[in-house]
Amino acid sequence: MDKRPIGVFDSGLGGLTVARAIMDALPHESIVYFGDTARCPYGPRDQGEVRRFVLEIGSWLAAHDVKLLVVACNTATAAGLALAQRAFDVPVLGVIEPGARAAVQATTNHSVGVIGTVGTVESGSYSTAVRALDAGVTVYSIPTPKFVDVVEAGLRMGPGTLEDWLAECSDVVIRSSFYELARDYLDPLKRNDIDTLILGCTHFPLLSAAIGQVMGPRVTLISSAEETAREVAETLDRRDQRARSGQPQHSFATTGDSREFIRFGSRVLRRPIVRVEHVDIADLPDVDSLLAFARGPGTEDDSCA
Ligand code: DGL
Repeated sequence: MDKRPIGVFDSGLGGLTVARAIMDALPHESIVYFGDTARCPYGPRDQGEVRRFVLEIGSWLAAHDVKLLVVACNTATAAGLALAQRAFDVPVLGVIEPGARAAVQATTNHSVGVIGTVGTVESGSYSTAVRALDAGVTVYSIPTPKFVDVVEAGLRMGPGTLEDWLAECSDVVIRSSFYELARDYLDPLKRNDIDTLILGCTHFPLLSAAIGQVMGPRVTLISSAEETAREVAETLDRRDQRARSGQPQHSFATTGDSREFIRFGSRVLRRPIVRVEHVDIADLPDVDSLLAFARGPGTEDDSCA
C-alpha cells in the first residue's frame, strides 16, 4: 500500500469530472488536483504550447510526491501524454485510451463518434487509439468547442449541481439555443448512424443528459472519466500501490481565481472544496531541460543488436 497522493490535472475545472470518478472508485486515495484555469481553454492552442504546459504542471505535481499522474484533459493528453510518460518517473495515464477502449467494447455496428476540442479532434488521437484496438471500427470525429463555453456559462448561471441544472433548466432561451447548437454539431454523427459517442472532453460529461436527448436512446455515451478511474485502479493494483484504508486528504491548486475555483469546482466535484492554493504561472517549474530530455534520443523503439 502506498499512501502518496494521485496527481490529476486539467486546463481548468473539467478534469474534476475525472477526479470525482477516481474519488468514487477509490475512496481511500488522496488527490492533488491542479486546474490551469488562467490558461484555459487549451483546445484552440498550438500543440507545442500545450506540451510545455503538460510538463510544467506535471513537474509541479511530481514535486508534490505523487505516485501516479493523470492527464485529465483530452487536449493535453493528445498533445503531451507521450512526452510526459518519458519525462516523469511515475506512471502517467491519459483520458483518450480508456475512452477508446470503452467505445470499442460498446459498439455493435462498428461506427463510433467522437466530439472534443479542435486540438483533440485535429490530433486524430481518438481515431488512432480506436483503430489500434479494432481496425474494423469506423470513427467519425467532430470538434464541438462551443460545448466548452456552454459548460462554463452553465457554471456561472445556475444554482445547485451543474448536471441537474443543465438537464432540467427551464429557461427556454438557454435550452432552445443549446439544442439548436447540439443539433448542428451532432446531426452529421446521427446521419452516419453511430451507435456509440465518445465525450472526448472532460467538460462534456456535465452535458451528457442534454447530449443524450439529442442523440437518442440507441446511442451509448462514453465518458472517459469512469474508464480512466478504472485504469487508475488497475495500475495501482498491479503495482500494489492502492490505498485501502484511512481518510483521503484532497488538495486543490489553480493558476486562476481561487474563490471562483471553490465556488464552481465544488459543483462539478459534488463535494465541498474548502481551500484552493493559487499558483502563479511564473512560479511553475522551468521545463526547458525536461523538454530537451523527453524529446531526446532513445525515444524510438530500440532494436537489440
Ligand atoms: N478539458 C479540456 C479537454 O478535455 C477542454 C477544455 C479546453 O479547451 O481547455 O480537452
